[in-house]
Amino acid sequence: MPFPRPRTALARAASVGAASVRAAHTRTAESGTLLREAAAFVRQFAEENPDGARPERRIEEIAAAVEAFGTYEHTPEELAFGARLAWRNADRCIGRLYWNNLTVRDLRHLEHPDDIARHCFEHLRTATNDGRIRPVITVFAPDRPGRPAPRLLGEQLVRYADDPRSASRAQLAADLGWKGGREPFEVLPLLVQAAPDQDPQFYEVPEDAVLEVPLTHPQQPGFARLGLRWYAVPAVCDMNLEIGGITYPAAPFNGWYMGTEIGSRNLGDTDRYDLLPAVADLFGLDSGNERTLWRDRALVELNLAVLHSFQQAGVTIADHHTESARFLTHVEREHARGRGCPVDWSWIVPPLSGSATAVFHRYYDAPDPDLRPAFVHRSTVWPASLA
Ligand code: ARG
Repeated sequence: MPFPRPRTALARAASVGAASVRAAHTRTAESGTLLREAAAFVRQFAEENPDGARPERRIEEIAAAVEAFGTYEHTPEELAFGARLAWRNADRCIGRLYWNNLTVRDLRHLEHPDDIARHCFEHLRTATNDGRIRPVITVFAPDRPGRPAPRLLGEQLVRYADDPRSASRAQLAADLGWKGGREPFEVLPLLVQAAPDQDPQFYEVPEDAVLEVPLTHPQQPGFARLGLRWYAVPAVCDMNLEIGGITYPAAPFNGWYMGTEIGSRNLGDTDRYDLLPAVADLFGLDSGNERTLWRDRALVELNLAVLHSFQQAGVTIADHHTESARFLTHVEREHARGRGCPVDWSWIVPPLSGSATAVFHRYYDAPDPDLRPAFVHRSTVWPASLA
């Protein structure tokens, strides 16, 4: 295979002696950290779910499991709460008002790549819901001591092969034998890797699992001729879900789109589809002179087309003004409940007309990188060539 293989468990096991003594110390330290994080989570669970069991009993139970197996299992209730909390804690997400309405698919018993792929596609169908997008997370097997769980390679369940951002994954798919990727807006296959020393497997995403919206403009009939489209469900799969010291690497989650993600960034950024010049052309804007604000005007037309097309197609999408107002409702609500709300201003302010939205004009509680539960960008991506 054309990519370098990561060090295998076997290679690691070959170095014994002093290393194994160190490993024993590390294990003790690790289970200390695991227990501390588990206890903090269980206490928060009890605090926010007052009908549940007493936290001290549950912590003892977890301590016994950690002692015996080096890990423990969340109850289904803990898992669902933990996943919703990870969303509530996501300081870059403007859509958090609905954090408590996350549908949690508990599929922790699945770890075969075929099963994972099948249920990722089922995730897309459930989330799509005929266009009335539902926020959903699917949680597959967690990492266990000495036994890392399978990974989904790539950023999202649905991505396009000709998106420059997906170049390395398109290459990997091709190296693995995928024959597609010649047409514009072709959906990349899903890549699942069972273990670090195994090649990823690729799975073509079934057509009925991907709802797409062709882009048209409410006033400019020529816009359709650009041949643009985008998919309905942004399902992020390159983040680990971390709850109470347990890491779930395969835990794809989705909300619905805010128009600017597509209209400003995906289609407008120069290192993405870079469409502002083509749109300016279509609208007869003078792109020879920055002071005509042709970029700004093209951005507005592109964003308008995205919102219009999704609405026409009956697919949930939010505009940045509405989402900004909802977000401030969320912040107030959190404060009213005596909780902080960590916010990364640079991610929350929309990439179009920022100062025309209320989220621009204020300060927030600072992000805390140690806050848990959380979605955490994977630090190690397999294989090494995708890093
Ligand atoms: N910004 C990413 C994209 O354009 C999606 C990230 C998640 N977005 C969301 N609305 N839940 O594909």
